[in-house]
Amino acid sequence: MSITSDLMICPMDGSILKRVENSLHCQHNHQFDIARQGYVNLLPVQFKRSRSPGDTKEMVQARRDFLTTTAYQGISDHLNQLVLAESNVNITDTSAPFNLLDAGCGEGYYLARLNQALTNAHNNVQTFGVDIAKFAILAAAKSDKKSQYIVASNKHLPLLDAHFDIIVCAFGFPCFAEFAKKLKPNGKLILVESGEKHLIELRNKIYPSLKAYQQNPYPDAIEAGLSWYKQDNICYEQLLDKSALANLLLMTPHIHKASHEKKKALENLSELNITIDINYRILTKNSAE
Ligand SMILES: C[S@@+](CC[C@H](N)C(=O)[O-])C[C@H]1O[C@@H](n2cnc3c(N)ncnc32)[C@H](O)[C@@H]1O
Repeated sequence: MSITSDLMICPMDGSILKRVENSLHCQHNHQFDIARQGYVNLLPVQFKRSRSPGDTKEMVQARRDFLTTTAYQGISDHLNQLVLAESNVNITDTSAPFNLLDAGCGEGYYLARLNQALTNAHNNVQTFGVDIAKFAILAAAKSDKKSQYIVASNKHLPLLDAHFDIIVCAFGFPCFAEFAKKLKPNGKLILVESGEKHLIELRNKIYPSLKAYQQNPYPDAIEAGLSWYKQDNICYEQLLDKSALANLLLMTPHIHKASHEKKKALENLSELNITIDINYRILTKNSAE
């Protein structure tokens, strides 16, 4: 789907954006061009802390290549099930669109599959992906023509308040106050996070010892007007070949922490069986907020 703008707001002043031909305009004459690939950049330079924030082009390509192996398809399938279950509860008024945001969507693997699952089940669905990395949004917009992709930060989402049924934040950077503002009352925030045993075989090969696992209690989520609602987990094993392993290392922060010898040893592996252990933590927006 190309950019329709009906939920987008100006990152400079918060006023509603209107689409005029191939750009979005606000009433104060701020203008944002829609790129040829169909995404829009709503991250003004003054909001950037570096020239190319977020994942690099190489990390985005490695994640794209890794995800095509289907090693993480189980994570996506389970996310789809959770979102569909919530959408069945939430969709009572079929004339109002069901809006889902993937905040920190990367190259769009999870969002494209969510769009497919939701549009198979419901008529009036809009899916949005935000990421601070332009290369990630570019890759996502090229391959998924059904979602609307925006370069922006989770800290300042250029989207209307109280319009989202679900926000997904997968292996990302949750900004609870901002997410809470964008959710409808009773809307859900789904955090997809590494569980205790996630990639343990790989981590054992990199680190001399592993830190005790601790789930983040996220006190700022409660302060933002969200409440813990449900928790779920999946755990399975997956055999990765040499190239999948190399891509996995490039797309995670672990490789930067490995010594030269450990990196070499990993490069020499022809395959590795890894554990995929994922926690899904769901919060609900308090209706009185
Ligand atoms: C570990 S990746 C996960 C990407 C995707 N959710 C996935 O699981 O395939 C984290 C993503 O968050 C993005 N990111 C980092 N800081 C961000 C911010 N402040 N706002 C939005 N996205 C951000 C990165 O560019 C990167 O694409």
